[in-house]
Amino acid sequence: MKYHIKLSKEMLKGVVIAILPGDPGRVEKTAKYLDPNAEFLASNREYTSWLSNINGNSVLICSTGIGGPSLSIAVEELAALGIKNFIRIGTTGAIQPHIKIPSMIITTGAVRLDGASKHYAPIEYPAVADLELSNALVEAAKKNNIPYYTGITASSDTFYPGQERYDTYSKYVINDFQGSLKEWQKLNVLNFEMESSTLFIMANAFGLKAACISAVIVNRTTGEKPDDSILAKSEENLAKVVKSLIENI
Ligand code: URA
Repeated sequence: MKYHIKLSKEMLKGVVIAILPGDPGRVEKTAKYLDPNAEFLASNREYTSWLSNINGNSVLICSTGIGGPSLSIAVEELAALGIKNFIRIGTTGAIQPHIKIPSMIITTGAVRLDGASKHYAPIEYPAVADLELSNALVEAAKKNNIPYYTGITASSDTFYPGQERYDTYSKYVINDFQGSLKEWQKLNVLNFEMESSTLFIMANAFGLKAACISAVIVNRTTGEKPDDSILAKSEENLAKVVKSLIENI
């Protein structure tokens, strides 16, 4: 039984792929969308796990919590249980004006604005997604007529200063991050989220496969607050994409 996720190999029934949302509250809904007979496995801290079956393939849905440190624990323990394929399904804030809501961003590489990934590989090591899994996400988005973009994501340890939000308690963003949003825009970075860099570095360093698809819930060039209908639509779109991807395994 693994320490944090409270899962054992027997419970996983030969899982072929792990789907990793951040939010424990999204796990059950996603699992049941994939398989109405999905089974609850465990819940401890930010790690909630359900098992779905799609056409005979066991699929684990396990939340990671927010950010690299908590994701790294989930990936460590899932990898130790034999899981080799990981897909993060998250939410994101777009930073390029042309990106629509709702839409999806399939991250091909991540800017390492996190600390956890540096515990696995030096900063020169690239945070890149697995090509085959990413292509499978592209195909699944196309099949479901969901608008999508592929490209680079800035993956930050913090939601506020690291993503250059000034509505922090102090209303201050340190010098390192002042002007950073504009700079990422100029460098054609598509969006901000908080987990892909750690996931990609760990997967590549371990010889495993990982990809990331994020639902765009805000576009920072026009607003900050997602509305509830967008959040619900995003959840459904992510589940649809995962279902198509696994049906084509
Ligand atoms: N997640 C993030 O990290 N940033 C956003 O703006 C939205 C979701």
